[in-house]
Amino acid sequence: MDLSALQIAPRIEEAETLPGWVYASPEVFELAREGLFREAWISVGSEALPRVPGEALPLTFAPGLFDEPLVLIRGEDDELRCLSNVCTHRGMLLLDGRCQLKGIRCRYHGRRFGLDGAFRSMPEFQDAESFPRPSDDLPRLELGRLGPLAFTSLAAGVPFEDWLGPIRERLSFLPWDELRLDAEGARTYRVEANWALYCENFLEGFHIPYVHPALAGAIDYGSYRTELFEWGTLQLGVAQDGELAFELPSDHPDAAEQIAAYYYWLFPTTMLNVYPWGVSLNVVEPLGPDRTRVRFLPYVWRAELAEQGAGAGLDRVEREDEAIVEAVQRGVSSRLYERGRYSPRRERGVHHFHCLLSQALRRRASGAGGGRA
Ligand code: FES
Ligand SMILES: [Fe+2]
Repeated sequence: MDLSALQIAPRIEEAETLPGWVYASPEVFELAREGLFREAWISVGSEALPRVPGEALPLTFAPGLFDEPLVLIRGEDDELRCLSNVCTHRGMLLLDGRCQLKGIRCRYHGRRFGLDGAFRSMPEFQDAESFPRPSDDLPRLELGRLGPLAFTSLAAGVPFEDWLGPIRERLSFLPWDELRLDAEGARTYRVEANWALYCENFLEGFHIPYVHPALAGAIDYGSYRTELFEWGTLQLGVAQDGELAFELPSDHPDAAEQIAAYYYWLFPTTMLNVYPWGVSLNVVEPLGPDRTRVRFLPYVWRAELAEQGAGAGLDRVEREDEAIVEAVQRGVSSRLYERGRYSPRRERGVHHFHCLLSQALRRRASGAGGGRA
C-alpha cells in the first residue's frame, strides 16, 4: 500500500483529492480504526443520560467498530462517569440494562465496585498477593458534554474542549441544557459506502442545487459558506427571504445575517446541525470499507418550529444524499478513476477533512501513533 499517495497538498488551489482506492481498501479501514477512531471523540449513544444519583446506563460504544461495553453512571456525588462495563476479574459483563444501583456487584464471582468504579471487595482473595491493585478498579474514560450530548474516546488524542470548543463559543447564546432528546424521532440509515465519502458529501454545499431542490429553496446558495477550524468545519446556511432564521443576540458576530442553520462537522465522524427547533446530531458509524451506519438523533428546544426552513424534511435530504454517496462509492472504485481536484470556492471543507485524514493515517502507518495531528 503506497501511503505517499495519501499526501494532500496544503494549498487547495493545487491540491488533488484522495485517490479512489482509499475508499475500498480493507487495509486503510484497519489503519483508520486503530490510528484514528480509537483516538476520536465519539457520541456515547442514543438514550437520555442518567439524571438521578445511582442511575446507570450500560451501552455498546461505537457499535460495529469497537463494540466496547461501557456504562454511564451518575454517582452519589452527582457526577456522571463513563466506566468500562467489564469486570476486572475474568471479564464478565457487569450491567445489563438501565438500572438504579448503590454499588456494582459482578454476578459471576461477586466482585464489588463503587459507583465511581473503585474496587471494593472480592470473595476468596485473602491469599492473593499485591491485591487489589489500581488495575482492579474499572477503567474510566473521559466524558465530554454539551448539554445532553455526551462524547467519549478510548484514547483521546485531542482535549475535548479543543475539539468541541468552537461550537460552544459561537453558539453560547443557545440554552444547551434545555435540549431534550426526542427518542421517537431518531432515525438509523444504512449506507453502502465508505464513511469518508459520507462525511465529504456533508462537507460541501456545492451539491445542494443539484441534489436537494427542496432545501435549495430554503437557503441562499450565494451566501452559503464554510469556515474551518482546527478539528472541524462550520457551514453557514443563510435563510432565503421570509424563511425561518435564528433570533441572534444583537452583539453576536452573525447578528447581521438571517442564519437558517449552523452545520458543524467535527473530525472525524460527528455532525451537529443546529436549527431554530434544536439540534440534529448525526453519528457516522463506520462498519467496513464500504458499509456505514448513520444515526440521526434529534434534540429539541422548540418543537413547534420543526418542519420549517432548512431544518425541515431531513429524511428526504438524507435519502437524496445516500443515493449520491452510494453511486460515488461505485464510481471511485472504477479502474478508470484516479483522483480529482477541489473547487477552491466550494470545497474547502472537503480539503480540510482530507488533510486531517491523510495526516492521521500516515502518522499511524509510520508508527508514530498517539497524540495530535
Ligand atoms: S468475572 Fe467478575 S467476579 Fe469473576
Ligand atoms: Fe446533501
